[in-house]
Amino acid sequence: MTDNTHILLISGSTRTGSTNTAVLRTAQAVHLDGVTTTRPELLAALPAFNPDDDHEPLHPAVAELRREIGSADAVLFCTPEYAGALPGSFKNLLDWTVGGGEMYRKPVAWINASSPAAPTGGADAHASLAKVLGYVGADIVERACSRTSMTRAAIGPDGLVTDGAMRRTITEVLATLHEHVRGDGRPAGSP
Ligand SMILES: Cc1cc2nc3c(=O)[nH]c(=O)nc-3n(C[C@H](O)[C@H](O)[C@H](O)COP(=O)(O)O)c2cc1C
Repeated sequence: MTDNTHILLISGSTRTGSTNTAVLRTAQAVHLDGVTTTRPELLAALPAFNPDDDHEPLHPAVAELRREIGSADAVLFCTPEYAGALPGSFKNLLDWTVGGGEMYRKPVAWINASSPAAPTGGADAHASLAKVLGYVGADIVERACSRTSMTRAAIGPDGLVTDGAMRRTITEVLATLHEHVRGDGRPAGSP
């Protein structure tokens, strides 16, 4: 294993001004020694999941999704909650991961952002992610998983989260995933 940890960032929202995507955009802007991140647009191009289509040649968007997960050391998700569950398009993405097997034993975590007025504060999305990712056999790094309340005003004109505490949380989550992948408990950036 190299010392570098590559973390794939996947948002569960396709909304242009999404706070969840802003969290991941901010994660991408964090500079942490030994950690690289990518945030490819994977969600919108995926076809509706159909087991009949889960064979070679795969739809290019499905192939890309599986390639990105397969080459990542860990995955960080951020998703809103819609109507007491995961957004349908995001559940669709997760359904496409079942047959590929790339999520098996993959270290994963999530930060779910909801508005302060959100009815359940994203609690059901949090529980659904634990259930679905447990089903695909992902290695859920619980100490890196959280949900947070965030207004749209918390995003600056550059599309990044402005709140200092939230930015620290994002950095800590990346560092925790890095430590977990390395398996030695040493903080990110240490020799
Ligand atoms: C159609 C719809 C349904 C929603 N249902 C819920 C819900 O069941 N529980 C909840 O906590 N928030 C719910 N919300 C609020 C969103 O989770 C919240 O606004 C979140 O911040 C949106 O994330 P985004 O900024 O990444 O798009 C809903 C929002 C929409 C648009």
